[in-house]
Amino acid sequence: MKQVLKATVLADKGYKIARIDPRLYGSFIEHLGRAVYGGIFEPGHPEADEHGFRQDVVRLVRDLGVTLVRYPGGNFVSNYDWEDGVGPVADRPRRIELAWRSIETNRIGTNEFMQWSNQVGAETCMAINLGTRGVEAARNFVEYCNHPGGTKFSDLRKSHGISQPHRIRTWCLGNEMDGPWQTGHKSAEEYGSLAREAGKVMKWIDPSIELVVAGSSNPSMPTYPQWEATVLEQAYDQVDYLSIHTYYGNRSDDVKNYLAKSLEMDRYIEGVIATCDYVQAKKRSAKKMYISFDEWNVWYHSNEQDSKVAPWQEAPPLLEDIYNLEDAILVGSLLISLLRHSDRVKIACLAQLVNVIAPIMTEQGGSAWVQPTYFPFQDVATLGHGTAIHCVVASPTYDTKDFEHVPVLDTIVVHDEERQQIVVFAVNRSTESSVSVSVDLRSFGELSVKRQTQLTGTDRKAVNAPGHITVAPEERHDAEVEEGRLHTILAPLSWNVITLGQM
Ligand code: AHR
Repeated sequence: MKQVLKATVLADKGYKIARIDPRLYGSFIEHLGRAVYGGIFEPGHPEADEHGFRQDVVRLVRDLGVTLVRYPGGNFVSNYDWEDGVGPVADRPRRIELAWRSIETNRIGTNEFMQWSNQVGAETCMAINLGTRGVEAARNFVEYCNHPGGTKFSDLRKSHGISQPHRIRTWCLGNEMDGPWQTGHKSAEEYGSLAREAGKVMKWIDPSIELVVAGSSNPSMPTYPQWEATVLEQAYDQVDYLSIHTYYGNRSDDVKNYLAKSLEMDRYIEGVIATCDYVQAKKRSAKKMYISFDEWNVWYHSNEQDSKVAPWQEAPPLLEDIYNLEDAILVGSLLISLLRHSDRVKIACLAQLVNVIAPIMTEQGGSAWVQPTYFPFQDVATLGHGTAIHCVVASPTYDTKDFEHVPVLDTIVVHDEERQQIVVFAVNRSTESSVSVSVDLRSFGELSVKRQTQLTGTDRKAVNAPGHITVAPEERHDAEVEEGRLHTILAPLSWNVITLGQM
């Protein structure tokens, strides 16, 4: 019989990390592969509405709990002319799309996307092009989107049939400008000063907007973290968030090491916070800089097949990772890492949402279906609202190729004051042992278990397929509260959610 490990957790209602910004549960739609065309938009599909938006996809996005969607890129945005995507569809140009070596028809642009995001009930985080464009295009675009009317670009919007401003709150100042793969890649000094000038003018047009400046594409960039320091030294006063990105993979098929990669996310976030605070100190500023982790996910399964895709196609299948159980467990831990840092990480986007490294997949003319990674995101996005509570965890640990002292138990507690409930999210990283967990929740008063679910399985490589959703959470009933302590057993390699009601 396998050994049962033991772990204890203390979560006191006074150990508040922060109120969780709902934008922590964002995602991302880029003009890339089949995300837009053949993903959210497929005119002629039996589920498409009069605008061509697939309602089966809309339902899955709504059920996922996504609060914000970043658009239209990604690398795509750095050679995108926003003007191509507005006005009569028949007049829109077909363009060579350099980031993904595809053809962009511009059938979907800003106004159509805003209509779709209203259907899914999410805010938009709009990215502007600071690769091939600059201050003027940014100024005009904010005026087009957010100014009520009576000026050149707001009236242009009205002439396109959109009488009310979109009132987009969150704006990204370009994308991954530290990367040589980016069209119009710049040095940190060049980018920082361009972002400052563009941002300044954008806020002059609409002072209510919030700006996200591009940090590093990932922590292994040679310019990290000097890039952040230099960019912020240029643009600190104009921007509200620093954007960071990263993707994880299990290329060497070392599951123990793979599941520890959320520690890398912790370290990355903490390094970025330190850099932000260094610039704050240097500037003698009272302002805190917050983080937008606006691209995070697992991405590696599709790399090889993407290298064989012929260029200059419309909406070719690209970045179509098929995720398995172990990916879903890591996604659970990455979400816990984001919650653990929710005092500084205010926005985050699971990259991406449909077909492209996505929790939701579609078949052309056929069904929409969900990958294993859909479930941990859905659990946290629907239940993780209120205040994140710091947990003092005593857990067995293990060492791997890249990490030491990896706790077998990864957990966070959220106190939803409005719904009067406590939610415990927990991962058991052990592939062979169950963990018996005791969570001291006495400070929250009398509690009872409302619901318990667990995502697990014996095959860590198990995947879903259309009409065959076998990697999905199941209800469980072993959790119980005794004198303010929650007791439960977490299966090996499992993602667990326990919701408790306050009496
Ligand atoms: O999400 C896929 C790509 O990853 C994005 O376009 C880019 O920003 C990042 O490198």
